[in-house]
Amino acid sequence: MNDNLYEIFHNVYEYKDKDTNNHFLLTENLAPGNKVYDEKLIRIQNREFRTWNPFKSKLAAAIKCNLKHFAFCENSIVLYLGAATGTTASHISDICRRGMVYCVEFSSYAMQSLVSVCEKRTNMIPILADARKVEEYLAIGKVDIIYQDVAQPDQIRILKINSQAFLKSGGIAYLCLKARSVDVRKSNSRIFKEATQELEKDFEILEKIDISRYEKDHMFYVLRYG
Ligand SMILES: C[S@@+](CC[C@H](N)C(=O)[O-])C[C@H]1O[C@@H](n2cnc3c(N)ncnc32)[C@H](O)[C@@H]1O
Repeated sequence: MNDNLYEIFHNVYEYKDKDTNNHFLLTENLAPGNKVYDEKLIRIQNREFRTWNPFKSKLAAAIKCNLKHFAFCENSIVLYLGAATGTTASHISDICRRGMVYCVEFSSYAMQSLVSVCEKRTNMIPILADARKVEEYLAIGKVDIIYQDVAQPDQIRILKINSQAFLKSGGIAYLCLKARSVDVRKSNSRIFKEATQELEKDFEILEKIDISRYEKDHMFYVLRYG
């Protein structure tokens, strides 16, 4: 493979541009020729890669901030809560190429763009639903991974009910916790402390990564269920 391209996790690459000396995170495009947001498409040895922007994706931000537990594999079945227009979900689709990414989103406006992203990918399914109403998408069955980014006051409760309904025992949950959405009157450190205590009741906390350098007021949790 190209000297400047290193696989740092399964299907996730770091690329050093020789001309500019800039480092990029990349995933290989599962839908060649198509962009999802304003990422760049780069051809390396006949393969097309997409740049992955840590200022637009909290999973990329966590990787930049030294994430250690990367559970996404070729065949992973992923439930993505708060998929918006598919920015991060599409990179997960590039990674879990023979798996499935179920994308739950309750905004019908975001859903319009999400549907056109999913149409170009064989492993992404859009679900227009409120992540508080698991009964509306029970048909998906059990999943290996839950990725949640909903920025709601009850975001921990949402993760718990979805884990109970869908996450395999020993499965991994990635939670992007936005302090300002929980309670604007409390300090971030107090919110993260209380959130950690609440999460510990149901999960083993594998990592707690401060990603505020890329996304203000956010903590990125990696959790093992059951
Ligand atoms: C911060 S954005 C997600 C960005 C996205 N995860 C990404 O990285 O590409 C949060 C999204 O969660 C959605 N959302 C918030 N609460 C939700 C809920 N209860 N059920 C489903 N979607 C929800 C919002 O509509 C919004 O699109």
